[in-house]
Formats: sequence, C-alpha cells, structure tokens
Amino acid sequence: MKTPTLPPSKLPEVGTTIFTTMSALASEHGALNVAQGFPDLSPPTNLKEAVKRAIDEGYNQYAPMAGDPGLRAWISEMYIQAHGAFYNADSEITIGAGASSLLFAAIQALVFPGDEVIIVDPAYDLYAPAVHLAGGVIARAALPQPPNLGGPGGAIDPEVIRNLMSDKTKLVIINAPHNPTGACFTSEGLNELADVLSESNCFLFSDEVYGPMNHDGRPFLSAAGHPGLKNRTLVFGSFGKLLHATGWKIGWVTAPEEITRELRKIHQYDVFSTGAPIQRGLAQYLITDDASKHLRELGPIYEKKRDRLLKGLEGTAFIFSPAEGGYFQILDYSKLDSRGDIEVAREWTIKHGIATIPISPFRKRGSQEAKAEKRLRICFAKGDSTIDEAIEKLRAIDMYYKSR
Ligand SMILES: Cc1ncc(COP(=O)(O)O)c(C=O)c1O
Repeated sequence: MKTPTLPPSKLPEVGTTIFTTMSALASEHGALNVAQGFPDLSPPTNLKEAVKRAIDEGYNQYAPMAGDPGLRAWISEMYIQAHGAFYNADSEITIGAGASSLLFAAIQALVFPGDEVIIVDPAYDLYAPAVHLAGGVIARAALPQPPNLGGPGGAIDPEVIRNLMSDKTKLVIINAPHNPTGACFTSEGLNELADVLSESNCFLFSDEVYGPMNHDGRPFLSAAGHPGLKNRTLVFGSFGKLLHATGWKIGWVTAPEEITRELRKIHQYDVFSTGAPIQRGLAQYLITDDASKHLRELGPIYEKKRDRLLKGLEGTAFIFSPAEGGYFQILDYSKLDSRGDIEVAREWTIKHGIATIPISPFRKRGSQEAKAEKRLRICFAKGDSTIDEAIEKLRAIDMYYKSR
C-alpha cells in the first residue's frame, strides 16, 4: 500500500508557538508561569451566571454566522460611546472565535499573492504566518523607542511606515496596547498615520484586543475614532482579554460593509460561528452596571499590578520602561547576561523556576534584531501573590548574577 508523501510545509519557518513552548516547559519544571498571556483572575461572577443561564435557557445551537445580535448591538453602542464611531451592527460587526480567527479571515480575504503587508516590529506572532499563507510579503516597521531609552514612545512610527510603503503595499497592521511592549497609541501618531495612508490604496488593521487597558492617564484611543482612518480600517477586539476569560475565545471585528462582506465569506467556512451560550451570556451581562464598572476598572487594576511588579524590581539590574498599557511588562536583562533571550528564558525556567516569554519570536526569524534581543516579557495579569512570587524569583536571579 502506498502512503502519501508529505508535501513541502506551507509554513516552513513556523514551529509550536513560543507561548505553548514556554507554558509546557513551566509545567514540566514546576516553574512559576508568568509567560503566556492569560489572567489568573476569574471572570466576573455575574457573567459566569449569565453564561450558565444562557445554557439553561437553550442557547445551545449554532449562533448566527455574524454573531449574537445583542452582542453586536453592544459592540456598536460601545464604539459610539467610547470613540464617537458608528458601525452598523448587522453589516459592519462580526463575531468570531477570538480576535485570532477574524484576523486570520480578514488577512485571507484582503491579501493576494505578491501584496506587501507592513507590520510593526516586534509583532504578535499570528500576523506573519497568516500573511505568508495568503502569498503576501511582510515588511517590518520598528516601534519607536520607549521614553527611557531616548525615544518618543507610542505604538507606531508613521515615518518608518511611510518609508516602507510602495505601490504593492496592501495592508498595514498596528496594535495597541501593544503585545509584547505595552506601547499605546498617541493622537499625534494616529494623525500622522492617517496622513501617511491618505493617498494610498492601503487597508489598516488595528489590533486593539487590550482595548481600554491604558495606564498613567493615557486615553483609550482607537483607530475607529479617527475620521481619517475609519473607512480603511478593521478594528479587532477580544472579550477574552476584557473579561479574564481568554479560554472562551470570543472576539470581534468592525469594518466597513464591503470589507465585512468579504471577510465573512472566509469566516463562514472557517469557524462559521462560535460559542452560542457564551455570546448570549456576554450580551446579557455587558448591558449591566456591573459590566460597566468592570470595564472602567480594568485599566486601573492592571496599572496597580504593573506598579507592584516594578516597585518590587527597584534596585535590580533589570532595565525597564513602565508598560504604557495592557498587561505585559518587558524586562531587559542585558546587564546580567549577554546570551540570547530564548536560551536565557529556557534556563531561567529550568534553573530559577520562572517562565517568561522571549521577545525574539515576535521578530523576523534569524534577523539581526531577533539575534540581538535581550528582553523578556512578563505577564502581570496575575493575583498579587503570583506577582510577589515573580518579584522574589527575579530578585533572586539578580542576586545570583551579581554574586558570580
Ligand atoms: C495582540 C494580540 N492580538 C490578538 C490576540 C488574540 O486574541 P484572542 O484570544 O481573542 O484570539 C492576542 C492574544 O494574545 C494578542 O495578544
């Protein structure tokens, strides 16, 4: 009997994601896991009750392909309230299996072989493989340096993007609060980006899954709220991130009607629809005062956690710029160890009992930038005792190197 020969890999550069790898290493060695980006906080009790109720009320068959109508209505209202942006709930908002599934569907819908796609660098690791599968080519726009390293901060450098643009550029993907650095949008950055894109034929994806988690009084800015960007922009959000429920995998995308029509053609044959009772429970919970309070407090809660972590690291040799938003903090360990970040992250997991995420997998594989990385990402969406344990382990690492 003949067995089929495996075709060449469509994604030869891709292995298991660094998040899965580091989490597996953490459990193998019993290390503290501040690596993968999930909160160890529980979803709001009333939300859990609403989801259970939805199951009992019979919302157990396929949800509508575009998503639960009540949930889409809430998203529409949220953009009006938070950003003064109107999206038609029927024709411009789609709910999928996390923001991931919609990012993937939208890239397949819009990117054709030979199209160029500009992503920020470092970038969330989903974008590049999805673009490659569509036959697109990636160009990477370095993020501005954070203020403590002499840069302006912020999540986009419009001048760098301008210099990378060509006739073939089809799409620019930005992300704020940014994973892994926590950088946030500034209104100047969005204004300048609108100017850069104004004469182009280019779509913009704004990955805003960490949405309102902006720290130190920064406003919750969205590309949706920028009149010069909205018509070319798809904005991605994630209920998993907002409600401490990443395992539920419910996300959304807003986009002009004609783009929504195209991306739904992929979405309907990919996941079709997702988690009906969870969507219903979300729709019922999100209109309550409890939910408004939860969302209002999200940024301040994470800001406090960030401050707890950074205060605990005062006096160590780690170099850091406080995360502007989101729930990740980058630590530069270059004063302690000159080796690459993957080697160091592995060693610290096994030897020092703390699992973190190296930054180089967010960059082009084998690039100078990736090879030069000496930074690790810590997820601080954790209970205070986990943060304190992380501090203890990081201080012990600091002492270990200093005493050698
Ligand atoms: C920047 C960014 N975009 C998208 C996602 C995916 O979100 P979801 O879990 O809703 O698929 C993540 C998850 O970590 C992320 O960090």
